[in-house]
Amino acid sequence: MVMVFGPPGRALLVIIGHLLFFSDILQLAQGLPFDFNQTTSSIDLEKRAPGGRTWTSPGKYTNIRLADSCAGKEKFFETTFDDMSKMVSDAKKTIPTIEKALNKDRKKMLPTEKSYVDIYQSLYGMFDLKKKAKVDNAKRKLQILSDFVGKYDQGLSRNQFHFDIYCDGTDWQDSGKKSKDGDAIMVLQGDPLAHPTLTENPTDICLEANGDKETLAFVTTSTNKSKDYMTICPKAWNEWQGKDTLATKQSKALKSLLGETIDDLVNETPESVLLHELTHAQAFFGASVLDDRKVGQEDPDDDDAYEWDLLTKLADEDKDVAQPKGAARNKDIRPLDNADTSMFFLSGERYCGPLKPSPDRWTNAAIHSRSLP
Ligand SMILES: *[C@@H]1O[C@H](CO)[C@@H](O)[C@H](O)[C@H]1NC(C)=O
Ligand SMILES: *[C@@H]1O[C@H](CO)[C@@H](O)[C@H](O)[C@H]1NC(C)=O
Repeated sequence: MVMVFGPPGRALLVIIGHLLFFSDILQLAQGLPFDFNQTTSSIDLEKRAPGGRTWTSPGKYTNIRLADSCAGKEKFFETTFDDMSKMVSDAKKTIPTIEKALNKDRKKMLPTEKSYVDIYQSLYGMFDLKKKAKVDNAKRKLQILSDFVGKYDQGLSRNQFHFDIYCDGTDWQDSGKKSKDGDAIMVLQGDPLAHPTLTENPTDICLEANGDKETLAFVTTSTNKSKDYMTICPKAWNEWQGKDTLATKQSKALKSLLGETIDDLVNETPESVLLHELTHAQAFFGASVLDDRKVGQEDPDDDDAYEWDLLTKLADEDKDVAQPKGAARNKDIRPLDNADTSMFFLSGERYCGPLKPSPDRWTNAAIHSRSLP
């Protein structure tokens, strides 16, 4: 795992406004930049007796274990997972609405349908609703997304994620060995099942080679795929300190949000970081686990597709890639394989939904009003 971190590249978008290619989309909040690469299965594992640790669990999520470094944060995780669980389950309910709406002329769509479809098209590719072949393709893609969201929903609502969470990077220690590329190989102390992980800075897995603290969090898996590991770095705790959660932001009056960027809205909340990270849970998702994909030709130097403008760029680049009939999954359609795209979809569907009827709330009324600044 190399924690290469693209430049933060904050998208300068207004929340409610106009995309270049269509008008009444809610420009939604945005994901978090983390990139990781877990490989090196050939590395010898350090054998250590796991012991001496005290694990706790966040409430009903008893298959999620919090390491010592998370002591005192149980309630925080429980609340955050509860909120994520609700978001994912709400998003799941919108998918049949999208599917039905895809049969309609856009002019005949209800406002809610329009906003769901807009988010879907922004993130997974625009197409002409009047062209049957395009609509059929969009439905096949939607089915893949639906399977993923359904599985995610089960993972949270039925306690099926098996995770060990570390709330800082100090349990990752330098093995003294290096990869072919010269990266340090780090091992997770006390857990011989954890995949060794590559990093540029062996003094602290949360730091970049130059000492910058760019990494918010990362996920790795175990050698026998029985569970996943999440490490949350100090930068994430600093970002979250004193800031609103996604749930709080959503409950604010629209007025107070005008002028914020989409990225401001979703970015740097515990829910969005964890929603993104959980999509990388290989032990849980298996073949449908999501990656962090790159825009452009996928050269190593290309940007990872994080944040709204790059997500929509990625969607646009792959909008004409067809989903083969009957294929369970197609890694060729990058938005379907991209963690931040899915995080945005999950957050976005919730913001669009008729969850809060109050008209001055930033839900329906806001989203559908084209005359807002
Ligand atoms: C992950 O790291 C390995 C070893 O450094 C490298 O060969 C591989 O190309 C990397 N994969 C990705 C997706 O970056
Ligand atoms: C993985 O290894 C652990 C420890 O040896 C064991 O308890 C667990 O059952 C294994 N899981 C799988 C899926 O092989």
